[in-house]
Amino acid sequence: MKILFFAKGEDNPHWLRALQHQLPDADIRLWDEKETDAAWQADYALVWKPPVEFFHGQHGLKAIINLGAGVDSILALQSRPADVPLLKLRDAGMAQWILDYVRYGLLHFGRDFDHYRQDQVAKHWHPREIGSRRDWPLGILGAGAIGAVVAETLASEGYPVRCWSRTPKQLDGVESFAGPGQLADFLDGCRGLISILPATRETRYLIGDDQLSRMQADGVVISCGRGEVFDEQALADRLRYGRLRGALLDVFHQEPLPATSELWGLKNLIITPHIAAPTPIVTAVEQIAGYIAQIENGEPVSLVDPALGY
Ligand SMILES: NC(=O)c1ccc[n+]([C@@H]2O[C@H](COP(=O)([O-])OP(=O)(O)OC[C@H]3O[C@@H](n4cnc5c(N)ncnc54)[C@H](OP(=O)(O)O)[C@@H]3O)[C@@H](O)[C@H]2O)c1
Repeated sequence: MKILFFAKGEDNPHWLRALQHQLPDADIRLWDEKETDAAWQADYALVWKPPVEFFHGQHGLKAIINLGAGVDSILALQSRPADVPLLKLRDAGMAQWILDYVRYGLLHFGRDFDHYRQDQVAKHWHPREIGSRRDWPLGILGAGAIGAVVAETLASEGYPVRCWSRTPKQLDGVESFAGPGQLADFLDGCRGLISILPATRETRYLIGDDQLSRMQADGVVISCGRGEVFDEQALADRLRYGRLRGALLDVFHQEPLPATSELWGLKNLIITPHIAAPTPIVTAVEQIAGYIAQIENGEPVSLVDPALGY
């Protein structure tokens, strides 16, 4: 079995070692634009943000496996052979990391660390009462491989949790809303809005000023799906004028976030550089080996639907 590999910005030697360990009989090659061996046709392409030339000359692919959960960049790549099945990683350890990230944001605002920070600057000793989690209704946008874990876990920890997805869900302790017709009801009265949505034709600019205005006035936004889901200007204006208490943002329309962005200067906003959940190599490689075994055995696998965009 032949595997062609390319992962932009990743620790490629680490990936290759882990893959070779998991698939000892496979011939695994790191893509190199200078090496053009027309006789070497890969069975599987394992990719993260490959260059346009990656697929040139590859005519025998059984599947393309995206080395992350987000498929917006691979779907946007014009040279991707559209007739080859596309798979993506599902959780593979990322849900736990996103959960940690979301918990950090909820603790920061829920336990008033934002206020204590300001108190420290003012040299002001001011203990505050600890509020109840019951007073923090949370809305989770996206209830897929990652969002479902986050929603069920936070519900089990005492938050009132609702989720919003394309299709209805049955998750323990979580109220489910689905489709554009239920978005307003889902948002009404949320104090924490957590986005774990992919960027698709339907989700881009989904959350603007109208949608944010449905949240509680001291609400907080945590965004770790894709930045395109939010109207960044509307979010920035609400944060600037105190019509939202704060936000923790990991993903943006443009990454890296340009130095000229006004977001950098907002005091009630915490910015992180798309680090909520990098792909964990060892568990990802186990999942990839499982996908390949299923395909080789003729078993069904769950595919990305390019029409839906995720
Ligand atoms: N910041 C980071 O480090 C990081 C790390 C990992 C992933 N991510 C991002 O997180 C996203 C989610 O990952 P995942 O593995 O949970 O993806 P997933 O399993 O594909 O789940 C996507 C969820 O979004 C919902 N959805 C998609 N389009 C929708 C629409 N038009 N209306 C309503 N709901 C819609 C889906 O609804 P259904 O359930 O009804 O299909 C599903 O619940 C990824 O696409 C990626 O962009 C970010």
